[in-house]
Amino acid sequence: MPAHTTNDAARRQAAAAPGTGNAEPRPAHAPPPSAPSAPSAPSAPPAEAVAPLLRGIAVLRRLTEADGGTLSLSGLEKATGLARSTVDRVTATLARMGYVRLDGRDVTLAPRLTELGNAYLAALRLPALLSSRADALAGELDESVSLAVGDRDGIRFIHQATRRRAMSLSFRIGDLLPAERTAPGPLFATEWTESDWHHWHERRAADPEDRTFPAVPPREHTAQDDDFEQRTTAAAATDCALDDQLIEPGLVAVSAPVRDPGTGRVACVASVVSHTSRHTAEDLRTTLLPRLRAAVTAMENDLRTAPPPEPGTPRSGLATWTTASKHELGREFIESLARGLTVLTAFGEGRSALTLTEVAKATGLARATARRALITHEHAGLVRQTPDHRFSLTPRVLSLGFPPLSRTSLPQIVQPHLTALADRVHESASLAVLSDSGEEIQYTARASTSRVMSAHITLGTRLPARSTALGHVLLSLPEARSLGYALVDEELEAGLRSLAVPVRDREGRTVAAVNIAMHAARRTAADCVKDVLPFLKETAAHIEADLREAGRFRRVPLT
Ligand code: PHB
Repeated sequence: MPAHTTNDAARRQAAAAPGTGNAEPRPAHAPPPSAPSAPSAPSAPPAEAVAPLLRGIAVLRRLTEADGGTLSLSGLEKATGLARSTVDRVTATLARMGYVRLDGRDVTLAPRLTELGNAYLAALRLPALLSSRADALAGELDESVSLAVGDRDGIRFIHQATRRRAMSLSFRIGDLLPAERTAPGPLFATEWTESDWHHWHERRAADPEDRTFPAVPPREHTAQDDDFEQRTTAAAATDCALDDQLIEPGLVAVSAPVRDPGTGRVACVASVVSHTSRHTAEDLRTTLLPRLRAAVTAMENDLRTAPPPEPGTPRSGLATWTTASKHELGREFIESLARGLTVLTAFGEGRSALTLTEVAKATGLARATARRALITHEHAGLVRQTPDHRFSLTPRVLSLGFPPLSRTSLPQIVQPHLTALADRVHESASLAVLSDSGEEIQYTARASTSRVMSAHITLGTRLPARSTALGHVLLSLPEARSLGYALVDEELEAGLRSLAVPVRDREGRTVAAVNIAMHAARRTAADCVKDVLPFLKETAAHIEADLREAGRFRRVPLT
């Protein structure tokens, strides 16, 4: 749609849609008259593409689709078709980057990987500017509210404010849905070009059951064709759209577009999602759409009055880091993969469209290296070129691990760190949070060693906050606050000593505490502080780094 398009113009265009006998040229949102023939095969990578980078991207995508973000090495070998030695080297490189964890034969996505999706979301700015409005609307309506962007012939969620769980499905940030089975889809399709419609027809023909969309259940009625084109025409006329159980029985949604104040184009689509036990789809239109519209008006106003983005400084020294890793790990470290992925982190708030020179400068890579990485990412659909020869990230960057990682809780983030700590100091380590009353601590994660003698602390155990080191830290008691740790002797039982440090979130609030429980007989109190505290602090720092990344665009559940 042209930049000046208003809703009235959209309505006029809708009136000129095919099938009305109108001889005017077909508007942008209308589908082409005939469906294309056989779908085309995926195109071969350009000659300059970096093959190891494409392999790394394939590994990350297969892990993203896997249950819990985990596959065995042999499972990855099958899923990617790569040789075992290649899978080993790719995963060793990703592990070195902190993007996956290797646990025996299993490979699991790690919270640090969130930085790639975060780079896209920060560059996009919409989550930072609009998510609090979406959250407030969810609270006001007591229904789930989501924000989605268009991703070719699909829609991808960039924010989820989930209120109710009556549905068997609830979608995650980064999940991709086929446009025609959603309420936002027709609104995005009002701006589709002929080539977009062509692509959509091809995909429908090649994948009639939506098997390439792991987030949705397969279609049951593949023979029955969609009324997607009519829904798109209607969406252009009414500036809203419904989902009447297109994804699964019971799930209904109403959507309205949030328009970019500069271009008038759809920036994202806001949806209210409910269940037929509370609202029919039609009912959503009459009862909840007016409040959705009011929230959208406020969102558009927020976009209009937003201060200019504040470009952060991209992390420096990336190229140096990859060179050092290569020296250390040798053949097991694929430098071109590591360098290629770090190119994505050059983008961010106020850095949404970068020239090749800017990407090279931000990453410290040679221009030729940065250029080949960008060409590779463009082929993989992660980067696109703007008309003025800049590069920007696409929503597809969220397909690199974001959906499963966007659901991780603090205990899940912390567990591998606790295990590593317990192995290192040969004592048990725990994570605890404060109960709502503030009177008790509650254990939420734990790694024990065989040596521990102590009382059986299990997950969920509650203890009085005032008599435990974890509690002293969580309550920020003056001594714990000034020392940065708490040491309590004879905690729980004679002969047991506990040393605890705080875990702080992005805003610097103490949200949890980690401790080590030790035999008092094995070390003096001073030796505990000297020998064990540095490890404990280092662990807390690693946890805080993960939490900062994981919590950048969502609230990480503490339990
Ligand atoms: C969702 O946010 O979960 C959602 C939104 C629109 C739909 C379906 C689900 O059509």
